[in-house]
Amino acid sequence: MRIDRFQMERTQCRYENEVEYNLSESGVLPITARELLDGEAAQSAFLDIPLKYAESNGSVLLRDHIATWYPGATRDNVLVSIGTSEANYSTFWGLLDPGGRAAIMIPNYLQTWGLARAYAGRADPYRLVEMEENGTRRWGLDVESLHRAVTARTRLILVTNPNNPTGGVLTEAEMAEIIRVARRVGAWIVSDEVYRGAEVGGATLTPTFWGRYDKVIVTSGVSKTFGMPGLRIGWVVAPPRTADHLWSYQDYTTLTPATLSDRLARLALEPARRERLIARARGILQRQLPQIERWIDTHADIFDYIRPRAGAIVLIKYRLPITSARLFERLRVEQSVLITPGAHFGVGKYIRVGYGYDMGKTLAGLARVDTLLAELQGKRQRPAVRAPGSARPRARRLLTVGA
Ligand SMILES: Cc1ncc(COP(=O)(O)O)c(C=O)c1O
Repeated sequence: MRIDRFQMERTQCRYENEVEYNLSESGVLPITARELLDGEAAQSAFLDIPLKYAESNGSVLLRDHIATWYPGATRDNVLVSIGTSEANYSTFWGLLDPGGRAAIMIPNYLQTWGLARAYAGRADPYRLVEMEENGTRRWGLDVESLHRAVTARTRLILVTNPNNPTGGVLTEAEMAEIIRVARRVGAWIVSDEVYRGAEVGGATLTPTFWGRYDKVIVTSGVSKTFGMPGLRIGWVVAPPRTADHLWSYQDYTTLTPATLSDRLARLALEPARRERLIARARGILQRQLPQIERWIDTHADIFDYIRPRAGAIVLIKYRLPITSARLFERLRVEQSVLITPGAHFGVGKYIRVGYGYDMGKTLAGLARVDTLLAELQGKRQRPAVRAPGSARPRARRLLTVGA
């Protein structure tokens, strides 16, 4: 089986540890194991855990804790996976075959686009578009495109809510419409909710699709809101028979979660601690979003921007005669800064910048972005503001990035 190159992850994996300023993260600053293990007794108990295989669908306690985040779910609905990535992978592999079709929300994290093309042979796009309602701009569902994408052969509709890269959150009416369309053809709704909990400005928790329709599968994990991407813990929430079916697919991929990761995730997702971690993420967003917005304002002549509702990411439209793939490449090579280009999400002249990590470093990276933007606009180049101790950007060989 052939699979498309997952351009966004390929470039991120290749370059994120090479550049001086990595502005391509979409979660909040990671927490440490010490923060989860309160006190010496807990730390010492952790060190005594035998490194045996973990329960292959996740420990009972971890599945119990995950289930409490989804009204009406129990541990039998939960399958633990290696990140949301494997949760999506097992789901698409388990549900799709060459006869079926998959409607995929665009713009998006294009893992599911590639999986649909690999397992169903094609992916049918439907769109989130910029819209204005009661004087407020937001990213909303293009209902017509959903109707066009979903046919009698559609086996699943993929939703990413909150969305990456737009930070948009579906309204109740939009969720109801997606369910109505899915029900009409008997399709599954697969809802990637990995940014749930990371809402901006103390907004309410993004509603889950879970419990709204009998053919819903939610995928998620601890990488974004909970600041633990290195644990590689994700999950599927599905009707018990489906969770069981998808579990058997993981016999061919990873067998079990990592024992130590299962234990730490169990601590993190215990309901009271989970709420504290959500509050932590929201605190970071609340403090840091105004700072990156001040930077965006300094480019009002070329930038257009809709405030995200969730996620530590801003998606910025720019007016410059350069493709997003080329802008990404020039920033990486000439300024040693990694952003994510719109092309990697299925849109055009946009860049996505993460603001959930160290803000001093982020602003120093953005000063490097200023240097290139000034050059592209034919302005006199301002000297880049460098982080203390950082060297001049090194020029690197130009590579051509597809898309
Ligand atoms: C929408 C979405 N789903 C899944 C993932 C993968 O997450 P994980 O680290 O949990 O595998 C990402 C990562 O950026 C994402 O943005």
